[in-house]
Amino acid sequence: MEQEYRLILLGFGNVGRAFARLLLDKRMYLQEKYNISWRVVGIATGRHGTALSREGIDLESALQIVGDDRDLSSLSKVPPPENALDFIHKSDADVLFENTPVHYEDGQPATDHLRAALSRDMHAITANKGPVVHAYRDLTGLANTKNRAFLFESAVMDGAPVFSLWREVLPGARLISFRGVLNSTTNLILSLMEDGKSFEQALTHAQEIGIAETDPSGDLDGWDAAIKVSALVTVLMGHPVRPTQVEREGIRGLSKEIVARSWQEGKRWKLLCEARRDGDRITASVHPEEIGIHDPLFNVMGTSSAVTFQSDVLGALTIKEEDPGPHTTAYGLLADFLNAVRR
Ligand SMILES: NC(=O)c1ccc[n+]([C@@H]2O[C@H](COP(=O)([O-])OP(=O)(O)OC[C@H]3O[C@@H](n4cnc5c(N)ncnc54)[C@H](OP(=O)(O)O)[C@@H]3O)[C@@H](O)[C@H]2O)c1
Repeated sequence: MEQEYRLILLGFGNVGRAFARLLLDKRMYLQEKYNISWRVVGIATGRHGTALSREGIDLESALQIVGDDRDLSSLSKVPPPENALDFIHKSDADVLFENTPVHYEDGQPATDHLRAALSRDMHAITANKGPVVHAYRDLTGLANTKNRAFLFESAVMDGAPVFSLWREVLPGARLISFRGVLNSTTNLILSLMEDGKSFEQALTHAQEIGIAETDPSGDLDGWDAAIKVSALVTVLMGHPVRPTQVEREGIRGLSKEIVARSWQEGKRWKLLCEARRDGDRITASVHPEEIGIHDPLFNVMGTSSAVTFQSDVLGALTIKEEDPGPHTTAYGLLADFLNAVRR
């Protein structure tokens, strides 16, 4: 028998909108393959208004409205709620997708949004790293109590299966260490510097194509990479580590000349994300390193990312994701949705 789920989208930016497009693309497939259908009953944003409708919101119209920089409230069947928590409470949904901007320091307000959804017996799904590093145990505990899922596949490496790999596919395996290239902006800048661009030219290009932020320090100084290391260690190694506890060095010290010299010697620079278990101790770091041609991360270029896991049973296992973007992040959310409701 077909099962319909009522969904709410909190955050309708690059990721939220890519997810809406993927839901539309996959509507028939989900019905045919899994007997699953969906209805989006609420969309909330920061500056583009909020819409709630039990009958369902037309996603094409919502995409058009926000694409035109207009307000979504015209699609609402009830007076728009006061704030995000009110929106969650009034929605009567089955699943919340939380895709608001990350706040590195405390993971808020996303953590409160996810907690509110779980408390109201919804599955809570996010691409936001903040709640993972600041409230993983708390939110997972609440989800277990409520027999619901708190899932966040897209928080690291977009839609590539990193968390679900360890949760579902490798029972009994123990993660000893990992080493990866997890920040797209710095990897793109280093790739462009190999092609002869200066650091400033490469950064400007990354900003022009929308990869780097206007204030790029979160990427250049290794904060984004550190929060990803922190998320992987916290979830996969069962050891809560804050981003500030990750030893961190960014790529500002690398010049075009240094990168060119390495390249002439058949080497290249990468911003490496690493963590290792040593007895009860975990060491975690983000730092630039010169690597050789036989390194599995050598050919991770541009905005691509990869991670090599060392486990006690499989040795090295590398996952590489090429040319990610909001569409691959959207797939991680869809996978979480299907995994949550098919449990
Ligand atoms: N972009 C990616 O490929 C990617 C990959 C992995 C993870 N992520 C994570 O996914 C999340 C979303 O990223 P994004 O690229 O979609 O960001 P974005 O384009 O900036 O969109 C953020 C959305 O959140 C809304 N918003 C902001 N504050 C809000 C609040 N307090 N309450 C309700 N809505 C609020 C914004 O509304 P207005 O625009 O109306 O202000 C907008 O709709 C972030 O946590 C990011 O780190 C992104």
